[in-house]
Amino acid sequence: MNKILLLLSTLLMISACQNETSQKKDTVVTTQEVTKSADYYKEKNRPQFHFTPAANWMNDPNGMFYYEGKYHLFYQYFPDSTVWGPMHWGHAESKDMIRWEHLPIGLYPDSIGCIFSGGAVVDINNTSQLGTTENPPIVATFTHHDFVGEKAKSNDFQKQSIAYSLDGGYEWIKYKGNPVIPNTEKIKDFRDPKVVWHEPSQKWILVLAAYDKVKFYASPNLTDWEFISDFGIKGDNRLWECPDLFPIQVEGTDEYKWVLIVSIQKEAPNDGTATSYFVGEFDGTTFKSDVKNQKWLDWGTDNYAFVTWNNIPKEDGRTLGIGWMSNWQYAQVVPTETWRSTMTLPRELRLVKGVNNYALHSVPVKEFQTLRGEATSFGQMNITEEKVLEGSFSPSQAELNLTVDLKQTTANTFGIKLQNQLEEHLTIQFDKKAGKMFVDRTNSGKDKFSEAFYKNVHAAPIDFNKAKLDIQLIIDATSIEIFINNGALNFTSIFFPSEKFSTISLLANNGTCTIDNLEVYPLNGIWQ
Ligand code: FRU
Repeated sequence: MNKILLLLSTLLMISACQNETSQKKDTVVTTQEVTKSADYYKEKNRPQFHFTPAANWMNDPNGMFYYEGKYHLFYQYFPDSTVWGPMHWGHAESKDMIRWEHLPIGLYPDSIGCIFSGGAVVDINNTSQLGTTENPPIVATFTHHDFVGEKAKSNDFQKQSIAYSLDGGYEWIKYKGNPVIPNTEKIKDFRDPKVVWHEPSQKWILVLAAYDKVKFYASPNLTDWEFISDFGIKGDNRLWECPDLFPIQVEGTDEYKWVLIVSIQKEAPNDGTATSYFVGEFDGTTFKSDVKNQKWLDWGTDNYAFVTWNNIPKEDGRTLGIGWMSNWQYAQVVPTETWRSTMTLPRELRLVKGVNNYALHSVPVKEFQTLRGEATSFGQMNITEEKVLEGSFSPSQAELNLTVDLKQTTANTFGIKLQNQLEEHLTIQFDKKAGKMFVDRTNSGKDKFSEAFYKNVHAAPIDFNKAKLDIQLIIDATSIEIFINNGALNFTSIFFPSEKFSTISLLANNGTCTIDNLEVYPLNGIWQ
């Protein structure tokens, strides 16, 4: 009898996933169809050197690991529509995190549910016994989300499961003992497991989001998990998602700290969703944050679910990650046609010790520089009002590196403007008096697809007490990534002008802005 019931519920589950899937079939274009056309990456609004799925919907980066010379990137994927639906894990790989190859889907929904976010680890010592030490298994941890249970208001519709690969991450086998962490407490938001090896206790540690906190579990073998502790902020009842936990060396020292990343579903600094972090200690059981409240990994609106790659070789030693370059406030309505959503540039995280705290800085990975063409150097300049930059670069696909001499600068505000011939524009203004940088995309496109997108000018705190301000801007068709003072502040923003931005100018209001040096690089695309 039990077996019959199980079979029935399995069939129901699969058909629920398929029903949700088939409703949207008419408009669907597949990766295979799209990539056949040599021109697919030339579509309107398609970034030229950021990762995008060839076709259809993408959100969070998932299951990232490095193995045998390849960086693997999985991602929340709905292959049957350009809006969110029953989740799969899309898959791509790259030798440099910049130039990607699209691969067949890694994980499909099954009888337990659809495949929500999670991570993957290379089980080098075969602790799981799912492979051998000669051929270590790669083990993915993910949330099984059961739509049928959710509709029936069961509250335990999210559970943690694993899958493993014995061929370096291409073919995946779901573990027969799934789920490995059932939802016994019936927590509605119970998801996004990410695993790290804890050397001192010789255990795997799994962190997952449980509504307004994270929970930690430990395991010797990736299959048997024991709950060990949780961590949250008293009084904070925002929804936490996509946590990540890792040790990181403090730059220029022998000291190590632990970082806990959590993405927050609302009340981010500029509204909507954003990624934050805590720096602290993890002793194998408990995470203790050095500070009461978290800091923002990125002050812009468009870097969510940022997580790190597993198994980066010791000789490399970097902590590398990537984020989803969108925001749940408008992600599903942005004006792209055959695909939706882009990843940020991959970034290197560095932990920097300040006077009385630690800060996580992030910069584009050095491999990004291989996209650079020949720079136009502008040298020293004094800007009054507005100066359009002319050179051999396209303003919609370029990198600007400039150093502002804050001591010499007399302007109340100074900045940078991207504009097209329709006068749609995006401006970045630095305001010494306010101690802020303002990013204004409110007039960056005519097509007002979402009020939340165009409503506010966004802001981030800037330290103007230094002698110089270093600004790096990376523009790719529909996105700008701003790195201030070598990654001390990140600001990521997407925009959708009716025509590409065709000029970049420097601005100074009520006085002069003194620029020590400015270089503009044209950037090559990755899809040719
Ligand atoms: C974050 C998130 C995750 C979840 C996934 C579903 O963007 O909501 O918490 O696993 O997206 O696609």
